[in-house]
Amino acid sequence: MTAVRSESAEATTASLRFPPGFVWGAATAAYQIEGAAAEDGRTPSIWDTFSHTPGRVLNGDTGDIAADHYHRFRDDVALMSDLRLGAYRFSVSWSRVQPTGRGPAVQRGLDFYRQLVDELLAKGITPVATLYHWDLPQDLEDVGGWTVRDTTERFAEYAAIMAGALGDRVPFWTTLNEPWCSAFLGYGSGVHAPGRTEPDSALKAVHHLNLAHGKAIGALRSVLPAAAQTSITLNLHQIRPLSSSPADLDAARRIDAVGNRVFLGPILSGDYPADLLADTAHLVDWEALVRDGDLAEISRPIDLLGINYYTPTLVSDSTAHTGDPEVPRNDGHGASDHSPWPGSEHVAFHLPPGETTAMRWAVDASGLYDLLMRVHREHPGLPLMVTENGAAYDDYLSPEGTVNDPQRIAYLHGHLSAVHRALADGADVRGYFLWSLMDNFEWAYGYSKRFGAVYVDFSTQRRIPKQSAHWYAAVARDNVLPD
Ligand code: NOJ
Repeated sequence: MTAVRSESAEATTASLRFPPGFVWGAATAAYQIEGAAAEDGRTPSIWDTFSHTPGRVLNGDTGDIAADHYHRFRDDVALMSDLRLGAYRFSVSWSRVQPTGRGPAVQRGLDFYRQLVDELLAKGITPVATLYHWDLPQDLEDVGGWTVRDTTERFAEYAAIMAGALGDRVPFWTTLNEPWCSAFLGYGSGVHAPGRTEPDSALKAVHHLNLAHGKAIGALRSVLPAAAQTSITLNLHQIRPLSSSPADLDAARRIDAVGNRVFLGPILSGDYPADLLADTAHLVDWEALVRDGDLAEISRPIDLLGINYYTPTLVSDSTAHTGDPEVPRNDGHGASDHSPWPGSEHVAFHLPPGETTAMRWAVDASGLYDLLMRVHREHPGLPLMVTENGAAYDDYLSPEGTVNDPQRIAYLHGHLSAVHRALADGADVRGYFLWSLMDNFEWAYGYSKRFGAVYVDFSTQRRIPKQSAHWYAAVARDNVLPD
């Protein structure tokens, strides 16, 4: 097992300067912040349905109002400007611009995003648009969602609509955010919308998400100006075997196949890995699923790969450690009787030792370094962007009206020094987006987990920048990570 390294030693020796032009940003997603769920023609997405289903989201929370960003976006952009952000990564709510997931766009939906983008540009903040951050129009789920091929055509059509509407002013486009979660948490373990627990459907969803990405890249490219950059954001898993026994190493291989290479293979190399196909052959008929021409579409060139990283994934072979003292179990993806890892039935997930965040995710910045270096090694020359990194802590407003979050500052410091080290070792990392700009709807955890640099008092919608927001603003301003 790779030893857990501390980044602090190198960070204390000197301030770390980032390359000129390094992008400092923050990220959000539509369903997590916008609210206005039934306004201006928006219809339910799978997350509206899911959050309104009793028992699916902690405390029965929904995104109906969220951080009310739909009505407060001008103030929020002003806040971003105060925080010196160079870029803002947001997602478009598909059912706000194309309510049934097909047919003509709704002008009021497009207007919202156009106004948001114009406001950003007016403040000198670069907009980075994600087309899909998990909120499929419910009407499309009703006819099969990501398990059916038609959804890939619908997604390409929607991508073309958005590129037509905003292509003249948005320079960075991301097709999908974390398709692993859409496929495996949505259709495998069921802890995310649409809450299905069918391993075969999860694998079909994976292929259709990959194909939707490829078709959308084609659609974007045919509409966008040549200078616009296209990408996909993956939550790549930095997988660590519990021991170096052959059984544990094989567990790590299986998780790497269904957690990472299921996307990296087809998207960057034009093929599904042979071991993934073998591991999952009993669940899905890949030959029928992957049609001629699909892999060529999926592997259309992208300009940039987005990587989201929070915590490493520690695995063992579950049959090999029966006599071991209890190692805490945790796959970081919520409780379910169903595995989000089809084809990896004999893998156990463990909580790595040491400090954790409020999500019970281990803090290990070296995982980010290892991940960036791995992708750099395997795909030299591919520009990378850390499109999400951050931590939830139990933040609260002090009687003095401040939110003091030294743990988040330490987390960000450690992970930014890891990015700096990867840059120094040759990885072409173009920027870093903190997750998240502000506290928001944390999916199945509702409002109970706060990832924001800005604290949101959800009863008044007041925004209060946390200590970490001020700290991050200084880093962004100076392009330097202080000691
Ligand atoms: C990844 C997702 O993209 C984002 O929506 C989520 O809130 C964060 N991780 C934290 O879990």
